[in-house]
Amino acid sequence: MEIDVFTLFPEWFEWFTEQRHVRNACAAGTRIECVDFREHTPLGAGQVDDTPFGGGAGMVLRVDVFDSALRARYGVDPTRLREERRVIALTPGGRLLDEQLACELAGEPALTLLCGRYEGFDERILEHFVTEQVSIGRYVLAGGELAAMVVCDTVLRKLPGALGHEDSAVEESFSQAMEGRPEYPHYTRPAEYRGWRVPDVLLSGHHEQIARWRGERSRERARED
Ligand code: 6GU
Repeated sequence: MEIDVFTLFPEWFEWFTEQRHVRNACAAGTRIECVDFREHTPLGAGQVDDTPFGGGAGMVLRVDVFDSALRARYGVDPTRLREERRVIALTPGGRLLDEQLACELAGEPALTLLCGRYEGFDERILEHFVTEQVSIGRYVLAGGELAAMVVCDTVLRKLPGALGHEDSAVEESFSQAMEGRPEYPHYTRPAEYRGWRVPDVLLSGHHEQIARWRGERSRERARED
């Protein structure tokens, strides 16, 4: 998979791309690149935003700046780019990221993530250049960068080779193997600590009983939500 992140803060992603599961995914053929769209602005002095028409607080990212940056990166008119790949703007009001969307995105050969700052994107960017808007929750972050990292994190760990143990992404919470339920509880040594005992069935070695117990606990947790 190829992921391009358009951001004014590419250095934020250096920390992210150094993390083990991200490095593993990259070693297995995934590529994450940041494009600093300030470098592609057709305006002077690195300008990327402007005051809102109609007045009001804050600054708005300009449509001509995104047009240049996307065109420079892909060599096509950005209105056509969305026929080739998913172009996602990170916005607080977008489609909420969940397990299903993460799986959908993990199946794509290429993604483009646009990170906004300030008051947001000029609406024409959203109308003409992107396939969709994605949000990581109904609260407002200072910018889309952390949201983009969250999207990358959950998508990358679904790709082969990202996790050390191939099964760990299969049976985890909300996965298809778990029929969309939360995961069952996990325990490790010590078997007893301060009088808190690990359920006997897990120490029993009876794989069928363990599987049944885990299924029951997972269904219980689903009912609690
Ligand atoms: Cl994607 N962007 C911003 N700025 N804030 C958010 C968000 C995205 N998702 C939740 N809050």
